[in-house]
Amino acid sequence: MLKKILTGAAIAALAVGLGACSSTRPADGGGDAAGASGDCNVGIAMPTRSLERWINDGEQLQKKLQDAGCTVDLQYADNKTDQQISQIQNQISGGAKILVIAAIDGSTLGPVLEEAKSQNATVIAYDRLINGSENVDYYATFDNYKVGTLQGQYIEEQLGLKDGKGPFNLEPFAGSPDDNNAKFFFAGAWDVLQPYVEKGQLVVPSGKSPANDDAWASIGIQGWASDKAQAEMDNRLSSFYGDGKKVNVVLSPNDSLAIGIEASLKSAGYTAGADYPIITGQDADKANVKAILDGLQSMTVWKDTRALGDRVFTMIQEIKDGKEVEVNDTETYDNGKKVVPSYLLTPEVVVKDDVQSKLIDSGFLKASDVGL
Ligand code: BGC
Repeated sequence: MLKKILTGAAIAALAVGLGACSSTRPADGGGDAAGASGDCNVGIAMPTRSLERWINDGEQLQKKLQDAGCTVDLQYADNKTDQQISQIQNQISGGAKILVIAAIDGSTLGPVLEEAKSQNATVIAYDRLINGSENVDYYATFDNYKVGTLQGQYIEEQLGLKDGKGPFNLEPFAGSPDDNNAKFFFAGAWDVLQPYVEKGQLVVPSGKSPANDDAWASIGIQGWASDKAQAEMDNRLSSFYGDGKKVNVVLSPNDSLAIGIEASLKSAGYTAGADYPIITGQDADKANVKAILDGLQSMTVWKDTRALGDRVFTMIQEIKDGKEVEVNDTETYDNGKKVVPSYLLTPEVVVKDDVQSKLIDSGFLKASDVGL
């Protein structure tokens, strides 16, 4: 199924056509023997330790690379853009030849990537695209639009929207306005749900119903912060849900927002059971998987971060060995300067009945992590 798109003449054509870096670049400027640790000096820049997934992402990739003899510098930036920029600068001055960056604000890294390029470093955008720069060589992520589609389709099926059921009270949320992924998540879900809003099968009592996909940032939660999502849900419930009106469904783009929304619902008196709303999520964080088992969250979209780490590890080996870098999407991720050759992995839905078979049997979580 995976297409080796960047082959032979296609590489040359792409490099010319996009004005992009070659997909096969030498191991480094000096052309040392492939495999020497000098070639494999990797800087990994992750956004924050406050979310489980980034801790797993960073540590797994670091370990794989170190086991393969690479020099690795792994940094977390406390969700602060300036901090991330100076960490990347340090990695460049420390001789990093490959940078793996999960950007906090994907639009602010242009100047530091100029520095990376002047040192002939290869840049892989990790999970989140980096915008407005020629100097992003590859992008490895899960199919972000598909994440949203899965959330939208889950709601569509659970509510019987295709059968004309409704009206249901919906409260939609979106991710951080500075994260390029957030617009894809929202668009994927909204393309499924908005037609039902237009037909009146879904009603948004708070009025926070973006007119179209592009208006998503108006309901974005800065920094993907649980407490901000909680405060927003508190406001919506107290302002628009008087007189016994109940929320039936919440579109939450990820687990950190879902956890805040669930706390808000709890303090407004909602308990697990037939009248508890459908709530979506993403990431399969431990607390959310527990919530799924307890009937306080309906689903999560699972992105096996180990698979993303494996893919980036493969890319790094291909880069340092001067081989073609395998990608499977050369159309979707235009960063404003170029279409970044991407490798998209496939996300999947996890509901209560899948927790054991998908998350625990695969070793992604331990049974004890989720109280089993
Ligand atoms: C990631 C999600 C994550 C969110 C918040 C997004 O860019 O793709 O997996 O939930 O950031 O950290």
